[in-house]
Amino acid sequence: MQREMSGLSRVYITRQIPPEGLKILRESGQVQFQLWDSDDIPVPRQEMLEKVKGADALLCVLTEKIDAELLDAAGPNLKVISTMSVGFDHLSLEELKRRGIRVGYTPDVLTDSVAELTVALLLTTSRRLIEATHEAKTGGWGTWRTLWLCGHELANSTVGILGLGRIGVAIAERLAPFKVKKFIYTDVVPRPELASMINAEYVSFDELAEQSDFLSVCCALTPETKEICNKNLFSKMKSTSIFINTSRGGVVNQDDLYEALSTGQIAGAGLDVTVPEPLPISHPLFTLKNCVILPHIASASYITRNAMSALAANNLLLGLRGEPMIKELKL
Ligand code: DGY
Repeated sequence: MQREMSGLSRVYITRQIPPEGLKILRESGQVQFQLWDSDDIPVPRQEMLEKVKGADALLCVLTEKIDAELLDAAGPNLKVISTMSVGFDHLSLEELKRRGIRVGYTPDVLTDSVAELTVALLLTTSRRLIEATHEAKTGGWGTWRTLWLCGHELANSTVGILGLGRIGVAIAERLAPFKVKKFIYTDVVPRPELASMINAEYVSFDELAEQSDFLSVCCALTPETKEICNKNLFSKMKSTSIFINTSRGGVVNQDDLYEALSTGQIAGAGLDVTVPEPLPISHPLFTLKNCVILPHIASASYITRNAMSALAANNLLLGLRGEPMIKELKL
């Protein structure tokens, strides 16, 4: 990009984002932007490396790796990265910090949507809804049977949360009316303020594994949490437990999960996130009846995706003006 006489900051947008964000950028009178005008295919890496040259800011989504190569390609004008996501494992934070580039992200606006989908996935998995609809429409539905398609219920259960933040609290708030007996959680440190909102008890990682009837993963993917859900965790879980992951696929060792599910070490898993994404249809996890896999849709409601795009746009504009962003990552 050549700097123009207009004085407008130059922005590259790596995806056709929902309209509210684009409208904010268009009407700001502050920026001119180019975008990869598709939502179906991510921008090819080479195209992005060329298009970011000279940009003052970048608005991206979670499919784009923002690393040293990309930042080098953008060059010294780049001041702001605004990601339309709450997750930031696609950003090389060290590099961004070193270069003094500010980072906006989109927490909070997606909490309700993610919590709602997590509950839906949990119930779908524990009450075996996918198997049930399949049986109903493919002739498996014979007479009413006493133990056919039985699952596990939330009433009187212990629900464990791995990584207690806003989303974990919102999930627990939605599950409480199902008569859950106890909420437990683990994290790097206790989170008393959040825990008190849902009356959750802080336990060790092992206790979380041992006691949870439903274990919901809500932690961010970091070097510390990479594949933290592995055979060590699954081997400590009850054979009746349900494992749910709506955070990032990278926190799970999928081979170990396959083993735990296929040997009956745990009862079922509901995954909204996998490695890689999309998960190839030949992946062994797709062969398991007790594994429900969704294509990363936890925040996919019209209202939430528009709110995320608006927040990403506003973060970007504020960052470019040198003002505090609405939601900025502390680097
Ligand atoms: C995020 O924002 O990081 C979610 O995974 C997608 O909404």
